[in-house]
Amino acid sequence: MNGLFLAIPEYMNLITKRVKGAQDVLPADSYKWHFIENLLSNEAQLCGYKEIRTPVFEHTELFNRSVGETTDVVQKEMYTFDTKGGTSITLRPEGTAGAARAMLENAVYNEGLPIKTYYITSCYRYEKPQAGRYREFHQFGMEMYGSASPTADADLICTINAMFKRMGITNLKLKINSIGCPTCRQKYQQALKDYFSQFKDQLCDTCLTRLDRNPMRILDCKSSVCKKIADGAPVVLDYLCEECGNHFAKVKSLLDYMNVEYIVDPQIVRGLDYYTKTVFEFVSDCIGAQGTVCGGGRYDGLIEELGGQAMPALGFGLGLERLLSLLEKENIEIPKPDNCGVYFIGLGELGEKEAFRLTREVRNSGIYADCDVTGRSLKAQMKYADKIKARFTVVIGDDEVNSKKAIMKNMETGEKFDLDIDDKFFENFLITFLK
Ligand code: HAM
Repeated sequence: MNGLFLAIPEYMNLITKRVKGAQDVLPADSYKWHFIENLLSNEAQLCGYKEIRTPVFEHTELFNRSVGETTDVVQKEMYTFDTKGGTSITLRPEGTAGAARAMLENAVYNEGLPIKTYYITSCYRYEKPQAGRYREFHQFGMEMYGSASPTADADLICTINAMFKRMGITNLKLKINSIGCPTCRQKYQQALKDYFSQFKDQLCDTCLTRLDRNPMRILDCKSSVCKKIADGAPVVLDYLCEECGNHFAKVKSLLDYMNVEYIVDPQIVRGLDYYTKTVFEFVSDCIGAQGTVCGGGRYDGLIEELGGQAMPALGFGLGLERLLSLLEKENIEIPKPDNCGVYFIGLGELGEKEAFRLTREVRNSGIYADCDVTGRSLKAQMKYADKIKARFTVVIGDDEVNSKKAIMKNMETGEKFDLDIDDKFFENFLITFLK
């Protein structure tokens, strides 16, 4: 097939190259995506979540407000552009903000709380591409609005756990933390400011701006120097108010009760500004440096921040590329889709027409059938049937049409069976097909 591109001049090479950090899902691999998407959606539906679909772009202000002006995502990674009308638009870097905007704009909360939604979306972040980190990637996410109870936190975490279990994944650690509410955050931010101020001469330029505006964001800076300094920073768990402390204790006790293993990791602060109280990550150590497969937490202030009535909320995002990579590393076999059940080889005008009709009849009954649509010879059709690994072939020429009798061949064993193509054709076919 490379020959097809020979005539393309050098300067047009870009046309045949995908954009850096993006990936193609090829026909031979798409079944893996269907498998995980179906499994995750089914599990979400079992818990009462319904799918929400939102536009790939939103007004830039939505992400500035929700994700936060001082985050890496907003400061460095968003794909933002002005429309011809002069409106600033951003390709979604994550799913939570758009889902919350849609829930508010369409007053979905009137349908009774809690509202539970899930989504499968592409996301866009201008990050340095590496294994497990892409500029276009895909998230499965679940969001729940309207419950402040720690039971909701535990339920969400148990649901994710169940999803991973159902896939047979074992190499994942659940890390949890609480980053408190605005009351505890104030004290914590001050402690961070005091600590990081000692290292003003070493922090990167971005972190220097964060020092005044939002020192907590210094904790997720990717620069190795800032990271090292951040290792010695005060931890948020020491600054929790009574309510946040109790909330976290209840989440942990529910996870204990459900036998869900977790590690309390005070370093988990997440990279997005909207989080409050419980935050968590599911991390693997076998898929390289980008080991966080899933991250989420509570965001009780976001809906109000976006102009709605105060409404507690929580959710998570799960990276589908990282999930697939984990399944591969754990040697978890994804069931392959069925190969072609039967390939009808039509010969001559009459035979081709009949092969075409029989193919449709088998397909109408829900079995994968195929026939030639290119006008190929008998030999070429046979070769193609072989290539697509058809289980059976049936040759239909003038004789078969006139006698209403054909031969059905099992391509693996070579066995041949009589097949009547009369008005009981499908029943006759099925008897052999199901053998
Ligand atoms: P996040 O931690 O930024 O959270 O992303 C969630 C997941 O998306 C990550 O754990 C990772 O698996 C995947 N991911 C993130 N960036 C990339 C990338 N550049 N390439 C490949 N995969 C990536 C959020 O996005 C929140 N909206 C999650 C959430 C929902 N919190 C509450 N509700």
